[in-house]
Parts: sequence; structure tokens; C-alpha cells
Amino acid sequence: MLNRETISGLLRTREIGRALTCCDVIESTGAAARDAARAGAPPGAVFVAAEQSAGRGRFDRVWRSPQGGLWTSLLLRPGNSGLLPGLPMAAALALKNSLKNAAGIDAGLAWPNDLVHSGKKLAGILTEPSFSGDTLDFAVLGIGVNVNNSSESLPDDIRQTATSCMDILKKEIPLETLLAAFLNEFEKHYGALLENGLESTAREWRAALGLIGNAITVKQGDDVISGVVTHIGTQGQIEITAGGEKKVIDTDSGSIHTEKYNKIL
Ligand code: BTN
Repeated sequence: MLNRETISGLLRTREIGRALTCCDVIESTGAAARDAARAGAPPGAVFVAAEQSAGRGRFDRVWRSPQGGLWTSLLLRPGNSGLLPGLPMAAALALKNSLKNAAGIDAGLAWPNDLVHSGKKLAGILTEPSFSGDTLDFAVLGIGVNVNNSSESLPDDIRQTATSCMDILKKEIPLETLLAAFLNEFEKHYGALLENGLESTAREWRAALGLIGNAITVKQGDDVISGVVTHIGTQGQIEITAGGEKKVIDTDSGSIHTEKYNKIL
């Protein structure tokens, strides 16, 4: 189990991680954060588990979460639902910086919500909002990073496309250090999102993605489209020109492949 005192001692935040729950094995930190939110937990509460028995990824996919990885969820109450697309952007930017600072790893951002290294997925990010009618109650931001779990610990199908800090560095890094570095970074990016609005976070995220001008292939259901990225919108949507026609791919409607990060569709 992660050491709560060590994490707290490294935190430089005002709100994020001030309420901190460290678990050994739980089904999912996302479910724990949601339950706590409904019971009135404060904004910025963080849940982290050594292992998840029922971790979930995007599109409700199974997310393998063995010992050694960083599996954490943040409870956020940004108030304005218009800021929701900025949460995974802020998290991706913060995670990139913290991997660099805490582990010396230069990870790239891969659209829409992944961090990649050498063409393989190192981390995934999931935003799950909860509404009362039209009003945003809270959002749970889930972060999964393969850290000290070698990709050998993952099932065959995932091993081909996944990597971990251990695979890259050939040594362990303390999960507490990486988590605290991430929370410290995230509070800065989240604060900037609340203060300056979505466009400014999206601008930074767009620049870090560096996809404009790249040839990509998009898979949407059974359709496969190839084109060149001409713009990335504030909501994170990709605009491509394919056969003289402009097409828009929303963050929740497709997966893309580009030579830039060799993501397999
Ligand atoms: C993705 O599909 O790429 C997003 C993966 C998000 C996984 C994290 S691990 C912590 C939190 N708890 C979960 O069950 N999922 C998220």
C-alpha cells in the first residue's frame, strides 16, 4: 500500500490531495471517489490503490491494475460543465511534467487521453462527470500509469501496445514520489483552467500533442478514414481533411493511428 504520510509530506498543494485515501486492493478508485462524492467528500479528495480488482478504462473497457502501477482518482467540483473537456487535458499536461521531473521520462501525449513512450501506451486518463439534471455535481478524474509493473505482467493483447516506467528505466520509482509530483503539477494546471478558461488549457494541450499537419487514420466503428489533421478544437475534437472533405472526430467517438505515436487501432 502507498504510504500516506510520505505523499502528504511531499504535497505543495492547497486543495488537491489534502483529503487522501490510500487503499490496498479495491475494485476501482473511480467508484470509491464517486461514492465519497455522493457522501459529501471535499473537492480535491484523492483516492489511490495499490491494486484494483475491477479497474475501468474508456468505453467501459477492463483496465488491468496489478500491484506496482499508479491507480488514482481525483474528485473535482469545477462548477462549470463547460470546463469538463479541459480536465483530461490538464491531467495529461501535468502527468507529462511529473513523469519528466520524478522519473526523467519524456512521455508524449497521444490523442485523446493517453501518454505514450516509444509508440506504446504508458498511461490513460478517464473523466467521469456526474450531473443533477443539467448541473454538474462533480467529476472524477481517473489516472492509470504503468509504473513498477513490467508490461510482462499484462495480458498478451495489451503487452504488445503497453509499456511501463519499469520497462523504460529498468528500475523501480517510488509511487509516492510520482503521485505527489503529479498532484502538485495538476493543481497548477487545474487552477489555470478554472482561472483562464478552457481555451488557454486547450491551446497548451494542442501544442503538446503536436498533431496538426500529421497524416492520420481514424477508426469509427467499421469506418476507416485517412486524412491530414488541419485543426484541433477547444473540446479536443480533431478536424481532418480527407479527399478534399473536412471531417471532425470527437474525443469520445473514435481512435486514431499516426506514425507519430504508432498507436494500433
Ligand atoms: C483509458 O482507458 O485509457 C483510461 C484508463 C483509466 C484508468 C484509471 S486507473 C484509476 C481509475 N480507476 C479506474 O477504474 N479507472 C481509472
